Amino acid sequence: MDITGYALVTGGGSGIGKACCLAFAKAGARGLLVADINVDAAKKTADEAKAAAATCTTLDFRAEAVHIDIADESSVQTAVEKMVELFGRVDYCVHSAGVSGGSHGSIAGNNFSDFKRTLDINVNGTYLITNFVSVAMKAQEPKQTDASSVERGFTRGTIVILGSVSSMIANPGMVQYTAAKHAIMGISKTAAIDNVTFGIRVNCICPSWIDTPMVQRSFELVPGLEQTLLDGAPMGRLGRPEEVADAALFLCSPKSSFITGCGLIIDGGMTLGTKT
Ligand SMILES: NC(=O)c1ccc[n+]([C@@H]2O[C@H](COP(=O)([O-])OP(=O)(O)OC[C@H]3O[C@@H](n4cnc5c(N)ncnc54)[C@H](O)[C@@H]3O)[C@@H](O)[C@H]2O)c1
Repeated sequence: MDITGYALVTGGGSGIGKACCLAFAKAGARGLLVADINVDAAKKTADEAKAAAATCTTLDFRAEAVHIDIADESSVQTAVEKMVELFGRVDYCVHSAGVSGGSHGSIAGNNFSDFKRTLDINVNGTYLITNFVSVAMKAQEPKQTDASSVERGFTRGTIVILGSVSSMIANPGMVQYTAAKHAIMGISKTAAIDNVTFGIRVNCICPSWIDTPMVQRSFELVPGLEQTLLDGAPMGRLGRPEEVADAALFLCSPKSSFITGCGLIIDGGMTLGTKT
């Protein structure tokens, strides 16, 4: 995959973010900062990443953890500054921190505080991360994107943001999540066009249901949801966090050097329609 730089992963303490951290470690990244509101979980991921890198790469790999609350401006600023202080640059940022949005309920009975909280964390958080990481990337020296191909141009860094199929379609009973994920796609596309002349690519990943602690909590909240999803899923299963991490690393790597502003659907065919 040609992953050789330094990665900042938000939400790295769990689920998709954690899978991305381990994938970076195994792929040859030189350094990793795991940022999460749950700093103990982030430390655990950093330790697991170091163990994974030791078996897979020969480079000196460093991994650290930092507390971040993505909805808090000074917390995001501090975490991004720590990344630059530790490694000198941010080559890749995968923004996976987020929440599912609390209660499920149709628009007529939806809970306004859940709506506001979800937008505060998921939308404001994505804005803040994209903003501060873009500032850091713009300030750093460009590198040739691919050592063997001058034609692929230069890069100052890549940002991958976790959207969702809910960035494209509506899921019933989840107005707060759907609204947030549509907004996240808007942030991602705007950041892609604003950053394009600086050699910074920004892409959004749009998964359907992936087997993570977030989704397991939704299954506990909504009886019968898991079976309904499995019955309707063309591939008949949930996605794996590692399958999303593979896409994130591709979008960070020189292999995707002409891709920016995309919303990459990873859904086992879910948005094609039900299989029957
Ligand atoms: N799992 C899925 O099916 C699925 C599908 C589509 C999109 N996504 C998106 O992928 C991302 C990761 O989801 P996941 O399933 O891995 O969830 P998860 O709950 O397993 O992990 C989310 C992580 O974000 C952290 N976090 C939550 N609020 C935070 C905050 N304010 N500041 C910093 N960190 C915070 C949590 O501590 C946790 O470690 C989310 O943006 C989610 O919306 C998930």
